[in-house]
Amino acid sequence: MNASKIIDKTIAFVKKELENAEGGHDWFHIERVYKNAKLILKEESEVNPTVVLLGALLHDIADYKFHQGDETIGPKRAAAFLNTLYIEEVVIAHVVSIIQNVSFKGGNFQKTFHSKELEIVQDADRLDAIGAIGIARTFNYGGFKNRPIYDPQIKPNLNLSPEAYKNHFAPTINHFYEKLLLLKDGMHTETAKKIAKKRHQFMELYLEQFFAEWNGER
Ligand code: ADP
Ligand code: NI
Repeated sequence: MNASKIIDKTIAFVKKELENAEGGHDWFHIERVYKNAKLILKEESEVNPTVVLLGALLHDIADYKFHQGDETIGPKRAAAFLNTLYIEEVVIAHVVSIIQNVSFKGGNFQKTFHSKELEIVQDADRLDAIGAIGIARTFNYGGFKNRPIYDPQIKPNLNLSPEAYKNHFAPTINHFYEKLLLLKDGMHTETAKKIAKKRHQFMELYLEQFFAEWNGER
C-alpha cells in the first residue's frame, strides 16, 4: 500500500475511534496535531515522515486518562490496526514507541526511548496544549472532570511523580503551572520553539487578566 493510502486509512480509523471523545482529545485535536507535524516536517531532514504522521494520527487513541489509567490499550490497538495495513515491522514498532512515550505526565521521569520522529510528534502535540486552544482544552477537560476553576488554597505541585500526576485532582488553573507553562522550554524543533513563544505569551497575558478579575480589579 502506498504512503498516502496508508494515511487515508489511518485517518478514517482514528475518526471512528474518537467519535465519542472529550472535546480536547477528539478528532479535531488530532487534525491540529497532524497539521503541526506536517509544518515541522518541512524544516526537518533525515526523518521518516510516515512514522511522524502515523504517530501524530494515532497518539491519542484510547488515552489512559479515559481508560482508568491503563496506558497499554492505545499502543495495542494502534499496533493491531497497523498490522492490518501490512506495514513494515520496524515502522510499526517505531510508531508504537512514539505512542508510548509522547505523554507529559508531569515530566518527572527518565525517558528510555528517543528518536527525532518522537520529538516532532511531541512538539506537534504540545503546541496544541498551549495558547488559545490550549486554554480552551484545559478548561474543557476540567469541566469534563468536574473540577473547580481555581482555588487559592490549593497550590500547584511541580514535583508530582508520573503516578501522582495521573491521579491528581486539582483546580484547572493549577494545570497551567504544573504543565502548560513548562512546555515552551521543552520544545525540540526550531519551528515549534518559534510558535510556542507567541502562544506562551498569550497564556501569560490570560493568567494576568484572570487573576486581576479574580481579585476584583477593574
Ligand atoms: P499528558 O499530560 O499526559 O501529556 P495530554 O497531553 O493528553 O496529557 O493532555 C492534553 C491536554 O488535556 C492538556 O494539555 C490539558 O489541556 C488537558 N489536561 C490534561 N490533564 C489535565 C488536568 N489535570 N487539568 C486540566 N486539563 C488537563
Ligand atoms: Ni494529544
